[in-house]
Amino acid sequence: MAKNRFFNRNVVSIRDFNLDDFAYLFDVTDKIQTLKSKERGEIAKGLILGYIFYEYSTRTRLSFESAMSSIGGRSLGISDVDSSSIMKGESYADTIKTISLYSDVILIRHPSDGSSRYACEISQKPVINGGSGSEEHPTQAMLDIYTIFKEKKKIDGLSIGIVGDLKYGRTVYSLIYALSNYNVDIHLVSPAVLKIRNESIYDISHKVNMRQHVELSDELLEKLDIIYVTRIQRERFPDLQEYNKIQGLYTIDENVLKKSKPDVSILHPLPRVDEISPSIDNTANALYFKQAAYGKELRAALLSSLLHEDPF
Ligand code: NCD
Repeated sequence: MAKNRFFNRNVVSIRDFNLDDFAYLFDVTDKIQTLKSKERGEIAKGLILGYIFYEYSTRTRLSFESAMSSIGGRSLGISDVDSSSIMKGESYADTIKTISLYSDVILIRHPSDGSSRYACEISQKPVINGGSGSEEHPTQAMLDIYTIFKEKKKIDGLSIGIVGDLKYGRTVYSLIYALSNYNVDIHLVSPAVLKIRNESIYDISHKVNMRQHVELSDELLEKLDIIYVTRIQRERFPDLQEYNKIQGLYTIDENVLKKSKPDVSILHPLPRVDEISPSIDNTANALYFKQAAYGKELRAALLSSLLHEDPF
């Protein structure tokens, strides 16, 4: 096994990681799935994941908890800030400091951009960003790329469409930064009001082929190997009337599949609202639940590598 590139590191932005880091993490993710449960259960024995979620979560929190438990560790945390001393006026800094006193690694989801970066200055334990505002969600991008790699056996050479709310969807930013390390064509599909933020275009357009579209046209569908669908981030919309205008704009259903490559893969970080019709859930193209399942394995690999210099 190659040298551990993750030991004691903060996972705040996907931009802090490179191709070698991804290759290492994917190897550990593959390896961890081959371990017997007894062996796997020794990795984080006696260690604790502490978390705090200032925003709703299903998959991120549960997959991290499940991952930690599968490597023998435990999790403790706050998933409902209304039940914590934050309601008594305790500061973000004091809350983070306290969680880091009781745990070996901490996971944070917060509505503000920069919240995880700031937490690193306070916590003495490694910090994992479980979603910071509309800025980033780095572990989601790691599992997205892992899913693509498992399915297509490669990343280079693929045409990847990213569809939906590209302005507020934090998974989109982490994903395009991660993809900019590879030789791919990225097609960004969104209504004009939800176009990707300009600074990100400046950041990566010199590294990767990227085109913007307003329509998920037949011509585009014929090219795509991956369609990564995102939810319109209603909670981040300043004006709900605008939200109503664009809701349901690009529904992925049998009709879209018919016009696409036969082996197109549909990914979604989930939760979905109405962007993907449940009628395609049982097709071989629908990868989103497999993707969610990989989330547990990849996060088990990530936790193992953050917590141990030599995880195996
Ligand atoms: C995403 C998030 O919280 O950014 N969910 C997730 O972690 N898989 C996507 C979303 O909420 O739309």
